[in-house]
Amino acid sequence: MKMRRRDPLVMIPGPTPVDPSILKAMDVVTYGHTYGPFVEIYRETLAGLKEIFGTKGEVLAVGGSGTLAMEAAVVNILSRGDRLLVVSHGVFGNRFIDIAARYGIEVDVLTAEPGEVVAPAVIAEKLASGNYRALTVTHVDTSTGVCAPIREIGQLAREHDVLFIVDGVCATGAIEEPMDEWGIDIVVTTCQKAFGIPPGLTILGIGPKALDRRQEMGVISNYYCDWDLWLPIMRDPTKYFSTPPVNLILGLHQGVKMVLAEGLPQRFARHWLYGKAMRAGLAALGLEFLADQDCAAPTLSTVLYPQGISDDKFRATMLRNHILVAGGVGSLAGKLFRVGHMGNIAESELLVTLAAVELTLKELKYPLTLGAGIAAAEAVLRG
Ligand SMILES: Cc1ncc(COP(=O)(O)O)c(C=O)c1O
Repeated sequence: MKMRRRDPLVMIPGPTPVDPSILKAMDVVTYGHTYGPFVEIYRETLAGLKEIFGTKGEVLAVGGSGTLAMEAAVVNILSRGDRLLVVSHGVFGNRFIDIAARYGIEVDVLTAEPGEVVAPAVIAEKLASGNYRALTVTHVDTSTGVCAPIREIGQLAREHDVLFIVDGVCATGAIEEPMDEWGIDIVVTTCQKAFGIPPGLTILGIGPKALDRRQEMGVISNYYCDWDLWLPIMRDPTKYFSTPPVNLILGLHQGVKMVLAEGLPQRFARHWLYGKAMRAGLAALGLEFLADQDCAAPTLSTVLYPQGISDDKFRATMLRNHILVAGGVGSLAGKLFRVGHMGNIAESELLVTLAAVELTLKELKYPLTLGAGIAAAEAVLRG
């Protein structure tokens, strides 16, 4: 009889597999949110996040999602009539356009061909031509799988004196983005990707320039997103503004501890290695990618379907092989699958995912040699 595991391994680009130690940290009686031991855990979590963000500014971790973090960044530093430059590499870059439009912010957009990134020289030219208050860039756009050159763009933001917002939802905790060093004023992120926590948190790193701008703005029309209401609680979690998701913060506490225990340079290096290994394995099967290899993200891969392989059949067969991968989004639906390789996963989980891809393609009559993908990935992992 064929054995079946009850749950598939979740290899979509978020939520990512949740480590048992994180689940265990959350699996306790819910503390009061201003109860001493919880307050200490909240404080420690925020201090750890500050280290990860690399900022002398502030951090915020409250109930919400990545999209709420994006909206919070926009409404706390921009007001009606301000000019914003959006550098978009896909669906999530475009989300900033939609958010800004709701608030009457004037938006200019730079885009690239799907799978490519806008060249820093093009951004520099645009910044020189317009009187922009801020610039948004998605560190890794999860729809196309490209990784933007944040360090170089941060340099440009400084030169042109614009506030630099980075969407780190698919990057923070997996890819380097030291805020103060790289000239990033705000990082917006969440918990269900590289931190490996169940979804439900809005996380922000806010640098000194962004805090100054918020002061300049006075009262804003948004309530829940207003940093001025939240930051006193982040500085002193014995205070109350709105009840935090207590058990998720307990999970984040453990997740942040895991990131710091691994060591930031080691964790970043591991993600670059995993990205390389996964793509080497897939390429050895003859598969091709949407993202150009010189800007392919360490956190996920966007894999084009070969002729004759349909999205529905591929993903359903992968699931029968116990691995969940994601389809394409927007105009890329049906053309590719997206496989995550971020967070608290092990080499064995990369390899088992590749094994499932091999078995799935074989079942769908795609010509390949079983084991070729795994061998290529292992060769990269063994260096
Ligand atoms: C790069 C990026 N930005 C923003 C978001 C939105 O985050 P959320 O779904 O938590 O609102 C996502 C979600 O996948 C994302 O990948």
